[in-house]
Amino acid sequence: MANHPHLDTADADAELFDLLRIPSVSADSTRRGDMRRAADFLRAKLDSLGFTARVDDTAGHPVVYAERLKAPGKPTVLIYGHYDVQPEAPEAEWLTPPFEPTVRDGRVYARGSTDDKGQAYAHVRGAQLLLEGAGELPVNVKFLIEGEEEVGSRNLEPYLRAHADELKCDVIVISDGSRFAKDVPTVTYGLRGLAYVEVHVQGASRDLHSGSYGGAAPNPINALATIISKLKDEEGRITIPGFYDGVHELTEQERGMWRGLPHDDAEFAASIGVDALPGEAGYSTLERLWGRPTLDVNGIWGGYQGEGSKTVIAAKAGAKISMRLVPGQDPHRVAELAKDYIESLAPEGTKVEVIDLHGGQPVAMDLDSPFIAAADRALERVYGRRAAFARTGGSIPIVAAFRTILGAPVLLVDMGLNEDAPHSPNESFALDDYHNGILTSAYLLEELAK
Ligand code: BES
Ligand code: MN
Ligand code: MN
Repeated sequence: MANHPHLDTADADAELFDLLRIPSVSADSTRRGDMRRAADFLRAKLDSLGFTARVDDTAGHPVVYAERLKAPGKPTVLIYGHYDVQPEAPEAEWLTPPFEPTVRDGRVYARGSTDDKGQAYAHVRGAQLLLEGAGELPVNVKFLIEGEEEVGSRNLEPYLRAHADELKCDVIVISDGSRFAKDVPTVTYGLRGLAYVEVHVQGASRDLHSGSYGGAAPNPINALATIISKLKDEEGRITIPGFYDGVHELTEQERGMWRGLPHDDAEFAASIGVDALPGEAGYSTLERLWGRPTLDVNGIWGGYQGEGSKTVIAAKAGAKISMRLVPGQDPHRVAELAKDYIESLAPEGTKVEVIDLHGGQPVAMDLDSPFIAAADRALERVYGRRAAFARTGGSIPIVAAFRTILGAPVLLVDMGLNEDAPHSPNESFALDDYHNGILTSAYLLEELAK
């Protein structure tokens, strides 16, 4: 695999590792300088390939924009990716340092290796491959690599509006997710949306002695647990009134297609170290992951967490809750519904406040498109087999705006795997997936030119 006369894998690896060494954590305000360094790194690389490249400031982290428009009469392809990464915490869980890329068993371990520096850089090297081979790109190419995806892409939408003419394109290509399985090249045709809220519960005006006050005073942690326990019923259905309004039900045709994919519940459970997969009754695992909305507590705090025991009733408690959405749902509306319901559940003596943090629209793409056919052909050239068509449970908040603001269809050609463990400690990217990703990118541009 990954045979190509012009693919210098050692050089492609070394360059990616340099990018992975930059701790571009968008959520961490102490790393603003690193964010700019990562953006400059990409600009300089694209510039060296003969792209017209620049770094644009936004109200948040900078955007890298580059273009090479030397294929008159051919389509224009915009490649989107993100150079920001998730925080490395919990750092102690990493076997090797998160920002010192280390190769073990054919994988490079580093934060951002698969999400999304490795996948975005595969496209940069894919363009390089074509330039070193044919000397020119077969289509017009624009790169848009942002630095705020992991914090909700707040400033990218205004950027798209301001640069809508310049960003005009026929199709948008994104590699920022996982293939269905190691030996299954995948075109992803749907993303879940996201509504994310934070819940604050206030009890007494100060922490209290749990002996002097316990049994009489309100306990915000107990109250929070009560609230959370009411958000899903026994069947795994979310109880927020109106939550399911408008949800597009899965068609029998789609359910049938997913049943045909090589998925095994026992294997899936074993891969995450559990022996059961609880979820909404009446739906298979893939249906729950790709086609059904859900609600999960992502963080929870309150009270004493130090060593030993401290007898105290906390004055405050809180939680962070993500809700993954499917087509037919709107993140703002869902956040409003969640706020009203959760606040209405406040147990006696507590004050509950719900804050809407950020979100993203769900998307589903048309399977019947010439772009998807081109991706299928490109993947077949690389992997020797036809692509599977899958949806995914994750979210890429800007995708919906690509369609509404730029009016272009989005093509998701994922290069990673779930086992890369994005967002987890010891995130990695298989080097053969990276190299195949470079070929996929190059062949995709060739196929899109046809
Ligand atoms: N690359 C992911 C999106 C993704 C995850 C696609 C899993 C396919 C499978 C992206 O970087 C991400 O983490 N998105 C966030 C969005 C949020 C921060 C607004 C997500 O899904 O949690
Ligand atoms: Mn990503
Ligand atoms: Mn991510």
